[in-house]
Formats: sequence, structure tokens, C-alpha cells
Amino acid sequence: MPLVTTTEMFQKAYAGNYAVGAFNVNNMEIVQGIINAAKIQKAPLILQVSNGARKYASQVYLKHLVQAAVEDAPNIPIALHLDHGDSFEICKDCIDNGFTSVMIDASAHPLEENIRITKQVVEYAHTRGVVVEAELGKLAGVEDAVKVDAKDATYTDPDEAVRFVEETGCDSLAIAIGTSHGAFKFTGDPQLDFQRLETISNKLPDYPLVLHGASTVVPEFVELCNQYGGEIPGAKGVPEEMLAKSAKMGVCKINIDTDLRLAMTGTVRKALQENPSNFDPRKYLAPARDAIQEMVEHKMVNVLGCSNKI
Ligand code: G3H
Ligand code: 13P
Ligand code: ZN
Repeated sequence: MPLVTTTEMFQKAYAGNYAVGAFNVNNMEIVQGIINAAKIQKAPLILQVSNGARKYASQVYLKHLVQAAVEDAPNIPIALHLDHGDSFEICKDCIDNGFTSVMIDASAHPLEENIRITKQVVEYAHTRGVVVEAELGKLAGVEDAVKVDAKDATYTDPDEAVRFVEETGCDSLAIAIGTSHGAFKFTGDPQLDFQRLETISNKLPDYPLVLHGASTVVPEFVELCNQYGGEIPGAKGVPEEMLAKSAKMGVCKINIDTDLRLAMTGTVRKALQENPSNFDPRKYLAPARDAIQEMVEHKMVNVLGCSNKI
């Protein structure tokens, strides 16, 4: 099947109390690891491309890697999504170039400006059959080299969320309830504001919510990185059970990038150190691809609940 939008995926996820995984892709091995997992688990997929990914690999390569995934997995519904588009122009470029879903993240702007920019993107996207995710509230962490300190993070206001969705017509909404981007999400015990999530979800019935910064920061991969020469002390992610709980409370899309990076880096570090004479990238990237597949399968089955949902 051709690339799809997230509309049907989210309807099914909402009704079935599970979430679809949205995985950031930057190179071929990451795409293949994820797609191999989706094929085995028969899971719908969102492959997302950030601005940083577009700068690194260029949009045309990523678009065609995703197109290759579509051909490789003809039975899997796959959406190609722009992650954290921060302007109308970036969203327009992706809409004009075959993306089926875009995120306009104007959350750095004051509310009225966020509404204005989001509305502009929604109007352009909807007339072209593309769906739009927007963001209200501010997550802490690192995004495209912009660091938001925890003290500057703002949780999503439930009443503002209702107004925002009504006025902009966005198809899904990313909310801030305590998750953050990157590998260092909590200094103390992990905590999410489930009360806030419940209130938002009740005020927006049948409406798909999105959780960014939702990597679990898989401890095995952090350990692997550290064991083989890396230095990632104090890394901590969102516990699996918290993500599984949010998937039953209206969260239909769960974003994962950091865990892919850790899986790849840890595995490559190990492969290179264990075999210092190896200079064939295929020999250290193949285990990284396998590690990604295994990790993504685990998430599909045990965290997202999206396996066997195609
Ligand atoms: O939200 C941020 C994602 O992890 C993408 O990160 O902008 O470094 O590609 P990136
Ligand atoms: P993580 O950094 O937790 O993987 O979050 C990724 C994300 O939200 C991409 O938009
Ligand atoms: Zn994000």
C-alpha cells in the first residue's frame, strides 16, 4: 500500500487503547531495523524526520529510504511524518514533497502566535490531504540543538488545549506532562502528570494526543555504551509502565528517538572494540540494525501495544 496518513491509525489506536510508535529515522540501518520489527510484529508505523535529520541526510534520501520501506513492507501502514517543523515554510516543503503528516511546533511562541501559525499549516495541509500534529506546552530537553531547561518547561493547560484544537483544527496534539527529549529526563524519580493527561483527555474525547520525549532510555544500551568507552552517566528515561498507561488514556502516538541512538551507538562501540581489526562498516552496522529491530519489537509488544494491529 502507498504511504498513509495517521487518521485511521489513530482512530484504531484510540478505540483499541494502544499507541502507534513514531520512530525518528536518520539513516538506512535505522529504517531497516524499524521496518523489520514492524513486519514481524504486524504493527502500523510512523517514520518521522526531524529538521536535524533533513540537514544530515537530506530530505530526498530520507524520503526514498522510507519509500523503499513501503515497497519492502507492502502490508504495513506507514506514515511519513515531519517531526518538530518550526515554521510554515518547512511544513509546506514537506507537504509539497510527499509527506503524509507534518508537525508544526510553534510552541516556542506565545499562544496566539502558536494558534496563528498552526492554523496556517492546517489550512495548507488539509487541502492537500495531509494531517497536522501541533504542540501546546513546552517540553524540557534538547531538540535540534535547542536546549530548554527544566525550569522553562511548561505543562499543557487543559482549557487552552481545547481552545487550541478548536481554533486550529489540528489533527493531533503533543502535550507536555513531564516527558522531555534526550537521555536525561529525570534527576530524581520519574514522574508524569497523569492527572493532567486525564483532564486533557476527558476534555478532548476521541482526540489523539501525542507524547514526545518518550524514550525509556533502555538501561542495557546505556550500560553497553558506558562499558565500551562511552560516558553517559545519569541517563534516565520514562518507565515502560508509564508509557503503557498513557497509551490507554488517549495517547495514540509515542515518539522514540533517543533509544534508537543508544541502541546503535552501544552496539557499534561493542562491535568495534571486540574486533579492532574490523574496518568494514557492514560488520558493525549489521548488529546495530539487529539491536534496533529487537528493541523496537519489544516496545511494540510490551509498551505500545500495537503489535498485530494492521
Ligand atoms: O525531538 C527531537 C528528536 O529527538 C530529533 O532530534 O533534531 O537531533 O534530529 P534531532
Ligand atoms: P526521545 O528523546 O525521548 O526519544 O524523544 C523523541 C521525540 O520526541 C522526537 O520528537
Ligand atoms: Zn519531540
